[in-house]
Amino acid sequence: MSAVERTRLAAGLEVSRVLTGLWQVADQERGGAALETRRAARALEPAVDAGFVTVDVADHYGSAELIAGALRKRRPEVQVLTKWVPEPGVSSRTDVEAAIQRSLDRIGTDRLDALQFHAWSYPDPGWLDCLFHLMEIRAEGRIGHLGVTNFDAVHLDLALQSGIPIVSNQVCYSLVDRRPAGRMTDVCRTHGIGMLVYGTLAGGLLSDRWLGVAEPPIDDSLTWSQMKYRRFIDQAGGWDRFQAVLRAARRVADRYGVSIANVAVRHVLEQPAVAGVIIGARPGERTHLEDNLRLFDFELEERSRAELAEAQAGLDPIPGDCGDEYRRPPYLTASGDLHHHVTHFPAPYAARTTERGVELDPDAGFREAVRTGPGIRIAGVTPAHRDRLIGGDSIRAQTHFALDRAEGALRSLDAEMAHAVRVEARTHEKDWPHVQAVFRERLPSTADVARAPGRPSHPHPIEIDVEART
Ligand SMILES: NC(=O)c1ccc[n+]([C@@H]2O[C@H](COP(=O)([O-])OP(=O)(O)OC[C@H]3O[C@@H](n4cnc5c(N)ncnc54)[C@H](OP(=O)(O)O)[C@@H]3O)[C@@H](O)[C@H]2O)c1
Repeated sequence: MSAVERTRLAAGLEVSRVLTGLWQVADQERGGAALETRRAARALEPAVDAGFVTVDVADHYGSAELIAGALRKRRPEVQVLTKWVPEPGVSSRTDVEAAIQRSLDRIGTDRLDALQFHAWSYPDPGWLDCLFHLMEIRAEGRIGHLGVTNFDAVHLDLALQSGIPIVSNQVCYSLVDRRPAGRMTDVCRTHGIGMLVYGTLAGGLLSDRWLGVAEPPIDDSLTWSQMKYRRFIDQAGGWDRFQAVLRAARRVADRYGVSIANVAVRHVLEQPAVAGVIIGARPGERTHLEDNLRLFDFELEERSRAELAEAQAGLDPIPGDCGDEYRRPPYLTASGDLHHHVTHFPAPYAARTTERGVELDPDAGFREAVRTGPGIRIAGVTPAHRDRLIGGDSIRAQTHFALDRAEGALRSLDAEMAHAVRVEARTHEKDWPHVQAVFRERLPSTADVARAPGRPSHPHPIEIDVEART
C-alpha cells in the first residue's frame, strides 16, 4: 500500500491529505453521555500509525478537542486543527482570548497548531475584528496558523487582500456539491492557499452501502451527518438522481478494484486547490481505515473523470457559494435550520430615535444612516473599519466591503439590500467598471446605479450613498 500523502499547508504546517474529522463525536454524544476520552483517543491510534496524522475538531464538537488532545499526548506527531465558531456579534479581544484559552486548555497545549474561524454574518464587521484579534494572538505565539471555515470566495479574498494571513478555508466539496470548483478555486490559487474539504462522503451516503438502497427519511435513524447531506441530495435533485451518481462511481471503482467511497474521495483530492479531504470518524465504532488507505494506490484517468462528470451533470447545482448553507436558506444543516448554532443576530449598529426618524450612531465606515418612515438614506459609506482600510489594493474587495457595511446599516434599520432603490458611488474613473461589476452582482436589478460627481474623500478609493424604500 502507498503511504498517506502529505501536503505543506503553510511553512511549519504539513498535514496528511486525508484528515480525520471528529464532528461525529458530538453526534455520538447526542444522548448526553460523553465518550470516555482516553478510550476514544486509543481507538484513533491505528489511523495515526497508518499515516493519518492530522485531526480536525472544533470548539463545539462535544468532547472532540479533549479526545484530540489525549491522542496528541500519546502521539506527539499528531496535528490538531480546531475551530472557533462564535455566536454572531462577538468581537472583543477578551471574548477572543477566552475562546482560544478554552481550546488550549481542552487540547492541553500552549499553542494551537491551527485555528479556523467561522463568520455567521458579513454585514456585521465584527467578523473582521475577530480575525484581527486572532492575528495578534497568533503573533504572540498561542496560535500556529490561522484558517477559516465556510467563507465564500468574496470574503476569503477580502480578508486575504486585507493582510490577514489565512492558510486554508474549510468548505463542503463532493460529487454532489461542486460549488468550490468555481470562484473559490480561483481565489485559493491566486493567494496560494488550500481548501480543506468535508462532506466528500456525504456522511457515508456516497458509499457502496447505499447503492441501490431506498431513500432513508431525514430522521433520528440517520447520523447528523447523513441528515445534513440528505438535504444536499434533495437540493441536487433527489435520491434517484443521486443513485445514478453512485452507479457511475461504482463503474469507475470497478476499473481500479476500489470502493465507491475511494472514488468519491479521490475525485475531490485531485481537484485544484484541494489541500486535503477531512473524513469523519466515529471513534470506537465502525472503522474504514483499510479502505481509506487505498486512496493513495490509484489515480483517476481521464475517462473515469469524464464518466463522473457526466453523472454529476444529472444533478442540480447546490445554490450559492461555499458556506451559504450557514448564512441563508435553504439551511443545509442536520436540523435544516440554525437553532443548534445561533440564538440571535444582533443588529450591527446601534439605533436611536431623533427628530429626523431613526438614526444610526455614525460609524468610521459611514457618515450617516437615517430612516424616515419607509425611506432610508445611508451616506458616505467607505471601506474603512476603525483605523484600517479594508480590501488592500483591490477596488472590488473594497466595494464588497462598503456594500457589506451598507447592508449592515440597512439591517440595523429593519431593511435589506433588496430594498435599495438607488446606489451612487464616488470613485475614480479607472475604478468605476470594477465597482459596476460588483454592484451588478450584489444589488437588486431594480436599483438605479450611478457614478456620482466628485472624488471620494481621501484615503478612500470609493464612497457609496444608498437610498432604500421599505
Ligand atoms: N467546517 C464545517 O462546517 C464542517 C461541517 C461538517 C464537517 N466538518 C468536518 O468534516 C468532517 C467530516 O464530516 P462529514 O459530516 O462531512 O462526514 P463525511 O466525511 O462525509 O462522512 C463520514 C462518514 O463516512 C463514513 N465513511 C468513512 N470512510 C468510509 C469508507 N471508506 N467507506 C464507507 N463509508 C465511510 C463513516 O460512516 P459510519 O461511521 O456510519 O461508518 C463516517 O462516519 C467532520 O468530522 C468535521 O471535522 C466541518
